[in-house]
Amino acid sequence: MEYSNLLSERVKSLKASAIREIFKMLGKSNIISFAGGIPSPELFPAKELGKIADGILEKNGAKALIYGITEGYAPLIEIVEKRNAQKNVGKDFDQTIITTGAQQAIDLVGKALLNEGDGVIVEAPSFIGALNSFRSYNARLFEAEVKEDGIDLEQVENILKTEKNIKFIYTITTFQNPTGITLSLEKRKKLLEIAKKYNCLILEDNPYGELRFRGEDVAAIKSFDDEGRVMYVGSFSKTLSPGMRVGFLTCHKDIMDRVVVVKQVNDVHTPLLNQMMVTDYINNYDFDEHIKISAQKCGEKCAAMLDGAKKYFPDSVSLTNPDGGIFLWCTMPEGIDTGKIFEKAVEKGIAFVPGRTCMADIDKVSNCFRLNYTTVSNEKIDEGMKILGEILKEYV
Ligand SMILES: Cc1ncc(COP(=O)(O)O)c(C=O)c1O
Repeated sequence: MEYSNLLSERVKSLKASAIREIFKMLGKSNIISFAGGIPSPELFPAKELGKIADGILEKNGAKALIYGITEGYAPLIEIVEKRNAQKNVGKDFDQTIITTGAQQAIDLVGKALLNEGDGVIVEAPSFIGALNSFRSYNARLFEAEVKEDGIDLEQVENILKTEKNIKFIYTITTFQNPTGITLSLEKRKKLLEIAKKYNCLILEDNPYGELRFRGEDVAAIKSFDDEGRVMYVGSFSKTLSPGMRVGFLTCHKDIMDRVVVVKQVNDVHTPLLNQMMVTDYINNYDFDEHIKISAQKCGEKCAAMLDGAKKYFPDSVSLTNPDGGIFLWCTMPEGIDTGKIFEKAVEKGIAFVPGRTCMADIDKVSNCFRLNYTTVSNEKIDEGMKILGEILKEYV
């Protein structure tokens, strides 16, 4: 039977996340993968979470195994609100709900706000999961480049001047995926001013902000939001466990009212057992200490990878130097197609994320690529960077 004609126009043209495709391939071989998107998995508190799960199911099984409310498990919402409040995130007009990862929070916002043809300003490069979500609502994506201190505000303003129906600006403010770059405080404030001037919203995505291994925290755009213009997304994926699928969204109640209906349709609620496990972990273990240790590890691994780049990469490849998070962004001379290098690298046992997959126009050649430093040992980082360096030298 021919199925392609039966598929909706909305999803027909969507390309599967190249990163997920890479993951499938990685499962099949003993490749050194710099393509991951999580902190060091050995740091996830598996034993503690195992004990917690046993305890919940023994003592509170019925509660964990029934339907919950769409907004989320109340004690976890309270925890998130308290942690948000420490960053001045969330005002009286806001509401917080628990989502099935930050991915779902982004998707729910897209579904609740985007009419076909509406515009979204995205960073170039950006997170493919968000780009694909907006694409699935037939939104038009407009790119503003990520500079050393974050999104180019002049480009943002030019888009807003010329394009009508821009619904929101999507920005990953701290240790951005894929560049590792952090939007400066000054630019955060200006971006909010620009959004006010042109009456559009901001979707601030911050799953990596707590993984800082150097420097001072930068206030969230949401912390300056005095009217509910900013929708703020967070996640426990990068601090506790990505497989648990627990994230959150904080935004104006009037938007949230629709988001909750959309989530109801989507998955009714985020699995209660997982929400209860996160709650118990935070209440009974030192979560902040755990994050501190994870962040330190990210810092060590980042240094090892930068060291490898210094030793083995050609001088014409430039790299970002993040203060936290899990990614480095590498830029090769203009005209080089890192998609082609990727194929060669995989043949030689190395994986990374080609830059093209992180752009609104996925078919455009990119001379950039993303490296993750947290999921392999220091020895493997050195070995992999050496092999990758040799491959890169063939192209410059
Ligand atoms: C910028 C960004 N936002 C959101 C997500 C989704 O995270 P979650 O696992 O919480 O759905 C990711 C995951 O890689 C990400 O990099």
